[in-house]
Amino acid sequence: MKIKRGRHRIVLTFKRIVIKIPRVYFKDGMANLLLELKHPQLFKYYRNTVLHDGTSKTSLFGGLICNWQERSFYSRTKLAILAPTYFSLFGLLNIQKMGQPIKIHDKDLLGQLIEITDKGVYSDPHTFENPDNFCILQGKISIVDYPLKTHRVLLDYGDKIQEKFDLSCDFWSKGNLHVETKRS
Ligand SMILES: Nc1ncnc2c1ncn2[C@@H]1O[C@H](COP(=O)(O)OP(=O)(O)OP(=O)(O)O)[C@@H](O)[C@H]1O
Ligand SMILES: [Mg+2]
Repeated sequence: MKIKRGRHRIVLTFKRIVIKIPRVYFKDGMANLLLELKHPQLFKYYRNTVLHDGTSKTSLFGGLICNWQERSFYSRTKLAILAPTYFSLFGLLNIQKMGQPIKIHDKDLLGQLIEITDKGVYSDPHTFENPDNFCILQGKISIVDYPLKTHRVLLDYGDKIQEKFDLSCDFWSKGNLHVETKRS
C-alpha cells in the first residue's frame, strides 16, 4: 500500500482500488470561520461557490464535498472517462478503481485538453493542469479527481477527450509546444 496526498484527500492505494479519506484543516477552518463571522459579507461572497479556497467550508469539509461529488456524479452518469467510484460512506471514505499514472508534461496535458474541449477546461484549471489527476484505464485517459467544477466539461467532452487525447504527446520536452495555454 502507498499513501498519496492531495490537497483535499489522503489516498491509500492498493493493487486494484484506492481509498480516499478527506483531509481536515482544523486550524485554518477555525481561523477562516472567525474571519467570516467578523466580515459577514464574506459569507455572501462565498455562498454560491462550492469549493472556494480559503473558506471555513473548504478547510473543514472540502475533502468530504469532493468525495461526495465524485460518488454522486459517477453513479448518475457512469461516464467512461471517470475512474469508477464504487462506494462512498457519506463522503467520509470513497473507494475508487486504481488507475495507472500517466506520464505527460503538465503543459502537454493542459494544451491538448484546451484544444479538445474548446477551452472548456478553463472551468477548473487546478484539476485539468495536473497530470496526477489523470490515469490510464483500459488504455485510455481517465480522470481520478472530478469535483463539481469539472462536471459540465466532462459531460460535454468526456468521450471526445478519450477519443482524441494523445498519451504519447511530447511537445514540451521537444521544445515545440504550439498550443495556446493561456486564457485569451
Ligand atoms: N483512482 C486512482 N488511481 C490512482 N491514483 C489515484 C487515484 N485517485 C487518486 N490517486 C492519487 O492520489 C492523488 C490525490 O488524489 P486526488 O487528486 O483525488 O485528491 P485531491 O485532494 O482532490 O487532489 P488535489 O490536490 O488535486 O485537489 C492523485 O493526485 C493521484 O496521484
Ligand atoms: Mg487531485
